[in-house]
Amino acid sequence: MFAIAIDGPAGAGKSSAAKAVAQALGFVYVDTGALYRAVGLYLLRHGIGPGSEADVTAALPRITVDLGYREDGQHVFLCGEDVTGEIRTPEVSMAASACSAIPAVRAFLFSLQTGMAERYDVVMDGRDIGTVVLPNAQLKIFLTASPEARAERRCRELEARGTPVDYAETLADVIRRDRQDTERAAAPLRAAEDSVTVDSDPMTLDEVVETVLGLARERMGPHG
Ligand code: DC
Repeated sequence: MFAIAIDGPAGAGKSSAAKAVAQALGFVYVDTGALYRAVGLYLLRHGIGPGSEADVTAALPRITVDLGYREDGQHVFLCGEDVTGEIRTPEVSMAASACSAIPAVRAFLFSLQTGMAERYDVVMDGRDIGTVVLPNAQLKIFLTASPEARAERRCRELEARGTPVDYAETLADVIRRDRQDTERAAAPLRAAEDSVTVDSDPMTLDEVVETVLGLARERMGPHG
C-alpha cells in the first residue's frame, strides 16, 4: 500500500489538495478531521464539555464513528447517523479541537485510521498523520499558510455553504485553534522530521496539487 500524509493547520487547504491528489492517483481520500468532528458533535448534542477529560472519556463507549464512501466522497457516521453535513460548523470545529487534545479520544479513533491505510492506498489529511498515525507513510507533506489566508479560505467555504461568518471572528478562531492544536501534549500539530513543507500562500490550489503529485510520482517510481 502507498500512503500520503498531509498535515497542517486548519484552513491551509489540506482537504482540497488531498481530495484532488487522491482523485488523480485513484487513492482513497481520508479526512481524519471529520472523525474528531463527529466526536465533537456527539459531545455538543449531549451537553458534555468537550474539554472535560473525565466526562468525554466516560462517554466514548457510547460513541461509534464510521466512514463510508459515496459518489460525492467521504461520509462520516455517528452512531449510525450520517452527520457529514452537520459537522461543518464553527461550534463543531471548536469542540473537535478541544476533545482532540484528550488522549483517550485519539486512541479511540486510531485504529479506524490505520485500518484504512492497511486496506487502501490513501491520501490522509489531519494533524498527526505523518508523526503518529502513519509514521511509515511513503510521502509526508506539511501544508502551511498564514493565519490570514486560512481565515479568508474558511470564510469563503462557509459562505459557499450558505452560512456566512465574520472575518475577524474567523481569524480569531483560526489562531485559537492553532494554539489548541499545537500546544496540546497528545500528538500536537507539528511537521514530521521527514516531511516536505509546502507553503500554500503564494500558490494556487492547482500548484499545490501538482507539487504533491510530482513528489508522489517520484516516490512511487516508474511502476507506481
Ligand atoms: O481538519 P479539521 O479542521 O476538520 O479538524 C478538526 C479538529 O480535529 C482540529 O482542530 C484538530 C482535530 N484533529 C486532530 O487532532 N488530528 C487530526 N488528525 C485531525 C483533526
